[in-house]
Amino acid sequence: MSAFAYRNGILHAEDLPLDRLIEEVGTPAFVYSRADLQAAYRRFAGALQDAGLDARICYAVKANPHLAVIRSFAELGAGADVVSEGELRRALAAGVPADRIVFAGVGKSDGEMALGLETGILQFNVESREELLRLDAVARGLGKTAPVALRVNPDVDAKTHAKITTGKSENKFGIDIRDIPELLQLAGGLPGLAIKGLAVHIGSQITQLEPFEAAFRRVAELFTEMRSAGHPLEHLDMGGGLGIAYQGESLPSVEDYAAVVRRTVGQLGVPLVFEPGRHLVGEAGLLLARVLFVKQGRSRRFLILDAAMNDLLRPALYDAWHEIQPLREAAPDATRQPFDVVGPVCESGDIFAAGRPLPEMAAGDALAFRSAGAYGATMASTYNSRLPAPEIMVSGSHYSIIRARPSHEQLMAQETLPDWL
Ligand code: LLP
Repeated sequence: MSAFAYRNGILHAEDLPLDRLIEEVGTPAFVYSRADLQAAYRRFAGALQDAGLDARICYAVKANPHLAVIRSFAELGAGADVVSEGELRRALAAGVPADRIVFAGVGKSDGEMALGLETGILQFNVESREELLRLDAVARGLGKTAPVALRVNPDVDAKTHAKITTGKSENKFGIDIRDIPELLQLAGGLPGLAIKGLAVHIGSQITQLEPFEAAFRRVAELFTEMRSAGHPLEHLDMGGGLGIAYQGESLPSVEDYAAVVRRTVGQLGVPLVFEPGRHLVGEAGLLLARVLFVKQGRSRRFLILDAAMNDLLRPALYDAWHEIQPLREAAPDATRQPFDVVGPVCESGDIFAAGRPLPEMAAGDALAFRSAGAYGATMASTYNSRLPAPEIMVSGSHYSIIRARPSHEQLMAQETLPDWL
């Protein structure tokens, strides 16, 4: 059950009425439920444990890198999957022990490699021969040995949006599965590296189990072969990618996913690493906005909001669907009219929903975009010189502004005029 529900006709976050919240913090604003964040983690971890798997969960920080979000998971024992120096520093600052941090990503700089080595992370997921050689050199330069997993590109279609699919051979991610034996051989001879395992991640917002099943089978087979060939593989990183139901559709549950994992790699008997992002944070957050105008066009009606594509980019970038709920619950028999729900940014792509049936709305009414906890605030920009939306964490009837809306002066203060202007 979600912490976001109507009570007495008003949408609440846990025990907090959201109409009261926006009186205090304004709109647009992101709101996260701490109870839902932790419930999602417990359910994910519990399903893997119940399936008899030895699982370590490394939360994919990119989905929502807020320190309070990372800490909410770290408190429950989570590690972190990071892809940059910034994410690594955040994970450490939020209290994730270094030996529970996986460093992924196709392009790590020397400085990022060095920081990972100096802090003693669990492993680097390496995605190319070039990176393998560079990591070896950086590690030797520091007198260290880098723990490494090779990220396998299994050439499996994740059947998700083209912009978030990563496991096909034409994608930039991972090492072609046919090249893994040769690269393991190479890595085995490099003194700066210690091979620990294999990793796989085929994409995000995956809504069927078959692509996981196909990828995990291929990797399990490879893992067994490579171990028999004498490579000291100790664990397997299963990536992230399990989707959430943006439109209330019925999707495979974490229990179904855990069963696939057990069926495909359980027999290897090695510890498994998981990198879920969206599944842990997506539904635990929403974006609040207000209607500025209800504009009657010649053929369409527009709800012009004070939130825009710079706040929540997913609809513009991936044609993503987010449920829209008025803060004030509509009567069950209220008539619904199609609205184009748009922001004030000067681009036709600044549209959240086209022809969305919604109850009658008026200027000043507030609404919520559901499932905005993942890839929401973190993908925001200040385009059109719009201020970043604040982030609020709710626990019970209590809330904290965990990132305040900056002032225009604060944003401009990051810029300097050259002295010759
Ligand atoms: N591990 C790796 C190596 C990844 O590249 C990703 C996501 C994850 C784990 C976490 O995936 P998740 O469990 O969240 O699906 N901005 C897009 C999603 C991009 C995902 C990038 N990589 C969106 O808004 O849909």
